[in-house]
Amino acid sequence: MHLFIVTGSSRGLGAALAAQLAQAGHTVIGIARRTHPGLQGEQWALDLADPLPAAQRLQTWLDEHRGWQSATLINNAALLSQPGPLAATDLAELSAALRVGLEAPALLSRAFLAGTAGVPTRRLLNISSGLGRRPMAGSVAYCAVKAGLDHLSRSLALEEPGVSIESLAPGVIDTDMQVQLRGADPLRFTEQARFQGLKDAGQLQTADATATAIVRHLLRPDFGKTVVSDIRDA
Ligand SMILES: NC(=O)c1ccc[n+]([C@@H]2O[C@H](COP(=O)([O-])OP(=O)(O)OC[C@H]3O[C@@H](n4cnc5c(N)ncnc54)[C@H](OP(=O)(O)O)[C@@H]3O)[C@@H](O)[C@H]2O)c1
Repeated sequence: MHLFIVTGSSRGLGAALAAQLAQAGHTVIGIARRTHPGLQGEQWALDLADPLPAAQRLQTWLDEHRGWQSATLINNAALLSQPGPLAATDLAELSAALRVGLEAPALLSRAFLAGTAGVPTRRLLNISSGLGRRPMAGSVAYCAVKAGLDHLSRSLALEEPGVSIESLAPGVIDTDMQVQLRGADPLRFTEQARFQGLKDAGQLQTADATATAIVRHLLRPDFGKTVVSDIRDA
């Protein structure tokens, strides 16, 4: 039995990842505020802006369910605050973006590592972004979250040599997140035209195609060899 825990499973890339893993016959736990009607497997409706109860629930669940051949945590959920300058960002939105994007992955990773000790194959996939490696005005919290995920992964890989850990940029995907970037006010977000241009030029991948490439990469024996990676180079 192979266990996959996928955050942000209600839509976008996370929904496609969870669906493909469930269709392959694996045990899937999806975590998001909303559930996905078509997804087979367990779904936990939780707000990861309040990550401590989610991590405690995962810890308890893993303590009660043992005997996995492999266990994988995919920290995929992320939240973009309204694109614009940090100084004008709503404080509650800013806090939620930081907590969903970085605090939740750190706490869930802790629960996952403690709760899967002894499982023969363990994988931790953090969904990062090119924006963790390239700064961009108008989305400071998001860039910081993704840079933080990359460095969390590098440091954790040193602590946990027996766990395959990767922080993977997934490319540009046609999801609600891109709708939000394209729909932003160009007066507040100077890169709005660039995101509109990517859509107009047909350069966005579908969530399904991206999920297929990520699942294939995840299940390869050399997953985790390059800790900070990009699916476009995989
Ligand atoms: N789309 C892109 O072009 C792109 C590019 C680079 C990296 N990425 C990364 O890829 C990952 C998936 O992005 P996406 O494009 O699929 O985004 P999306 O369509 O906006 O979906 C985000 C997911 O995160 C969940 N989520 C958001 N806030 C949450 C909260 N407070 N608590 C629990 N779950 C929450 C959402 O579920 P609920 O709303 O139901 O809670 C949803 O399932 C993210 O890490 C993103 O940063 C995306």
